[in-house]
Amino acid sequence: MHGTPRKTVRAAAVLALTLLALPCAAQTDSGIDPCARMEVLPGSKLFAENCTFCHGPDGKGGGILAKEMKLTPPDLTTLAERSNGAFPTEYVFKLLKGESGKSHGGMPNWKSIFTDECGAAPANRAVTELGVYVKGIQAK
Ligand code: HEC
Repeated sequence: MHGTPRKTVRAAAVLALTLLALPCAAQTDSGIDPCARMEVLPGSKLFAENCTFCHGPDGKGGGILAKEMKLTPPDLTTLAERSNGAFPTEYVFKLLKGESGKSHGGMPNWKSIFTDECGAAPANRAVTELGVYVKGIQAK
């Protein structure tokens, strides 16, 4: 049998927690409103706040939630290597925007999370910064 129901329930709880944690995490850093932050933060900061639970601080996997996930968060520094040396820009942006067939581990897509939180313009900017950041951490 694949995946006990118990594990599925746990994964759902972890995802819910992750999503709930987003606005709180964004608020702790400084007094600035989370949406204003989304308009100015560099990709590295956005990544630290939204992605490291699963992908790890260096993007290589092994974040604190990684063990709890049914799908192991992949090493994001080997995306180019796994695509014959060329960073798969379109694939990454489609994934972050929820436009690819991939479910991203069953989570709602990041663009819609950010859009619900802060509106379309900050969400677009955040997704772009994140894509550029992930491109920048590729293993040489
Ligand atoms: C709750 C855990 C979790 C969080 C948080 C998370 N991811 Fe992921 N991510 C995954 C899982 C699991 C996969 C692999 C499954 C899939 O692709 O459907 C994945 C896949 C990816 C991939 C594709 C990797 C590949 O090798 O194909 C990219 C790019 C990515 N994530 C970027 C991000 C970015 C950027 C963030 C922050 C905005 C983020 N992820 C936040 C769990 C997470």
